[in-house]
Amino acid sequence: MRQSSALKIGDIELGQGLILAPMAGITDLSFRRIAKSFDVDLVTSEMVSSEGLVRNKASTKMLLQSHSEEKPLAIQLFGSDPKVVAEAARIAADEGADIIDLNMGCPVPKVVRQGAGAALLRDTATVAILVDAVRQAVSIPVTVKTRSGWSQSKINVLEVARVAEDAGADAITIHPRTARQGFSGSADWSLIAKVKQAVNIPVVGNGDVTRPEDVEKMRQLTQCDGVMIGRGAMGNPWIFNQARELIKGQAVSNPTPQERLDVVRRHLALYEESLHGRQSLSGVRSRLMWYSKRLRGSARLRASLSDCRHLGDMIKFCEDFFSTL
Ligand SMILES: Cc1cc2nc3c(=O)[nH]c(=O)nc-3n(C[C@H](O)[C@H](O)[C@H](O)COP(=O)(O)O)c2cc1C
Repeated sequence: MRQSSALKIGDIELGQGLILAPMAGITDLSFRRIAKSFDVDLVTSEMVSSEGLVRNKASTKMLLQSHSEEKPLAIQLFGSDPKVVAEAARIAADEGADIIDLNMGCPVPKVVRQGAGAALLRDTATVAILVDAVRQAVSIPVTVKTRSGWSQSKINVLEVARVAEDAGADAITIHPRTARQGFSGSADWSLIAKVKQAVNIPVVGNGDVTRPEDVEKMRQLTQCDGVMIGRGAMGNPWIFNQARELIKGQAVSNPTPQERLDVVRRHLALYEESLHGRQSLSGVRSRLMWYSKRLRGSARLRASLSDCRHLGDMIKFCEDFFSTL
């Protein structure tokens, strides 16, 4: 068995350091509970607006709902005003967050325009003030998730990581693409290795981990302390379990069609429960589509789901699809 080093953030032991990435519209309570059932060490919420939380906006507060079985839980906040983000962190901690993660990488214009997310890569003075303010506001660990820089000519992730560490961050996650890149090109894992050399806090690597074997590959190439998976886990929560099997030197087990269908059903049930029965057709449709994405014949299923307006029919299409796999 390979001895992968354990990850510890603050006082929180996180085993092999397999982490579900924050993804807006995706890592809601239902998906986090599904990922947890496949042995992920830490789940992260969708990004939550600090302003919305402090203003007690119902739709923002809804993002803080959690369940004991998903613990430990990192709540990710975005914002740029240190007082507001610190107050939001206090609220999230009171609501049960175990870790506060600060978003310093989101390139979406609506977020960047507020000076938040990836805009902070162009304002390292505010990075320091924000981390310090949140550090003072809560007693739970504070982490930062960021990109490699604003643009190819402004790669400054080493500076951002050092500033965050000096201000009191307990760990840092690097998705090594620039804000300008969005999701184009590929993640430059060599920058994760450089950050690991530059700071003493745990470094979590992220970006383009799509197969279970990529987890160990990223660890070996970068010496990172944890590995965060986003898109590779959508409709594919087995990836966490499979990565763990590889770490233990075991063969990777693939889910049977019946096991896939059982997870789809459980995911939809948890989704319905989390929205108290008010789930949207588009929300159900997109979740069903994730689970069929990489599978043979899925284009036909996706076409049927796109045209379908009835929940019962959608589930029937899915059952038929999985039964013929
Ligand atoms: C649909 C979607 C939503 C995302 N939302 C967030 C978010 O709320 N906060 C964040 O820090 N990153 C967000 N990300 C970025 C991911 O956390 C991750 O850094 C990125 O997808 C690269 O990792 P991957 O290659 O494993 O997907 C999002 C990504 C996707 C695809």
